[in-house]
Amino acid sequence: MCGIVGILGKHQVAPLLVEALKRLEYRGYDSAGIATVQNGRLDRRRAVGKLANLSDLLVHEPLPGRSGIGHTRWATHGAATVMNAHPHRSGPVAVVHNGIIENFRDLREELVAAGYAFESETDTETVALLVRMFMDQGKPPAEAARAALHRLRGAFALCFLFDGEDDLMIAARKGSPLAIGHGEGEMFVGSDAIALAPLTDRITYLEEGDWAVITRKGAEIFDASDRRANRAMTRIQIDAARIEKAGYKHFMAKEIAEQPVVLADALKHYSRDGALTLPEGVDFTGVDRVTMVACGTANYACQVAKYWFEQIAGLPCDVDIASEFRYREPPLSDRSWAVFVSQSGETADTLAALRYARDKVARIVSVVNVTTSSIARESDVSLPILAGVEVGVASTKAFTCQLSVLMLLAIKAGLDRGRLTEEDAKAHLADLALLPGLMNHALGLAAEISGIAEKLAEAQDILFLGRGAMFPLALEGALKLKEISYIHAEGYASGELKHGPIALIDNRVPVIVLAPHDALFEKTVSNMQEVMARNGQVLLISDGEGIRVAGHGCWKTLAMPDVPDRLAPILYAIPAQLLAYHTAIAKGTDVDQPRNLAKSVTVE
Ligand code: F6R
Repeated sequence: MCGIVGILGKHQVAPLLVEALKRLEYRGYDSAGIATVQNGRLDRRRAVGKLANLSDLLVHEPLPGRSGIGHTRWATHGAATVMNAHPHRSGPVAVVHNGIIENFRDLREELVAAGYAFESETDTETVALLVRMFMDQGKPPAEAARAALHRLRGAFALCFLFDGEDDLMIAARKGSPLAIGHGEGEMFVGSDAIALAPLTDRITYLEEGDWAVITRKGAEIFDASDRRANRAMTRIQIDAARIEKAGYKHFMAKEIAEQPVVLADALKHYSRDGALTLPEGVDFTGVDRVTMVACGTANYACQVAKYWFEQIAGLPCDVDIASEFRYREPPLSDRSWAVFVSQSGETADTLAALRYARDKVARIVSVVNVTTSSIARESDVSLPILAGVEVGVASTKAFTCQLSVLMLLAIKAGLDRGRLTEEDAKAHLADLALLPGLMNHALGLAAEISGIAEKLAEAQDILFLGRGAMFPLALEGALKLKEISYIHAEGYASGELKHGPIALIDNRVPVIVLAPHDALFEKTVSNMQEVMARNGQVLLISDGEGIRVAGHGCWKTLAMPDVPDRLAPILYAIPAQLLAYHTAIAKGTDVDQPRNLAKSVTVE
């Protein structure tokens, strides 16, 4: 979850480290820090809170040096304090870390018994002290780091810098991704290629258990058994423009607005002249079950897709929360597919679930945004969602692109299983092609939504209701709202309300009903009436016909364009996102970096 960076440069590295950390701030923003070596002397600066605080500190207390490491933290062990901020230092060693050292308590006891003192509550400081202990025993830096790595259990990406060593970094990866960047007489380390994008496009990804000795001449990579390892260097294309706000106030606003364009790109990529052009390995012949696994918003995309796989393709489908999947020990068959959906492609729980499913199913398929990610690389078939870089912590465009790609998979399953004819598939694709235009129309509701959000911002609790494939969208609407506005929100299947949650309803609880005028509309409206009979304040989001039939007596209504029934969860994501965004604006919260969260969750 934390972001790490390292640079052996030609010029002063502090500004470059801070710039790179800016691109990694999505991984956590509890504190930030850098360390450099200048004239052989190791020194560091650390500050609590956003990166801007570290930048301010560096204005007053500059940190010269051409080699350095940096860190942006999402706290796991120990509060967000300067003492707990990285880089951690012990004597000649400084280290930045992403992950969790599971055996840190045992190591800590051992180090204390050996006479070493700790100044932080973190697991990371153990690593610095361990390396220092080996150096005190006479080992040179690389040897000491190697010896320490063999003592660590857990998941980590690490980068070390040493006092007296202006041309040396040691990097290591186990469980958390790490990329090495190659420059001209310069070398870089980063949690991901995006962090290094303006510095270099030549990247080597460390593999599980790898560690590397890095100097300005290059990187010597070793595997988990300390054997020399050859890892390919790849050229990465990162569209820098997609990492800018482009005139929007927030990344989230920009990413919501981008949806018609990126969705059209994704559809164009996977279809031509009314026919699917999915990669070769996507053939559902003989597949009797799909198991979908993901976290958070990506999981809700899977829950929507379950309706599609079952209704369109007649294919049984399970959806699991990744953090529960392995522990449930689900029986998997070699006639089933396991599908992993992840924007970042690095979510630790999803990756662990993928590894659990490997060798137990016919095919591991992933639906990812970051094509160079671990989940993409470890799948048999990986389908990029082509949403472009998503910076806002609250996922928006990735959700609708995930849904679109999952819909295409369901159509393909329908074809392969003989449930759909080519003509049927063509009709589904024609419906999908309407979405970008309809999304533009829905985006036009922003001003109206902003007015409603002013009122929502006063609420303490908000409920979202949906039926059928709109139920997972109700869950997503509630998640989006709570994560950026900090208002308590829950999503329910509308028919489930009367089995308990209806007790929450009174005139202070807004209830947002997501209900296109489809075959389930009448039933949802009945549940809505039950809310209104108890003075619940209903916001009905429906199409013109739905509002004409049932809008009377609602607190507010929002008229969406008509949309083919199956695609409503994709289109209705837009008002759900806009409601969350404008409510957060009304509350004055930090929209792009809400408290306690991080964009890429690389701890279990
Ligand atoms: C919510 C959100 C999270 C992510 C979840 C999975 O807005 O973004 O719930 O969806 O952490 O992340 P990925 O998709 O990167 O695996």
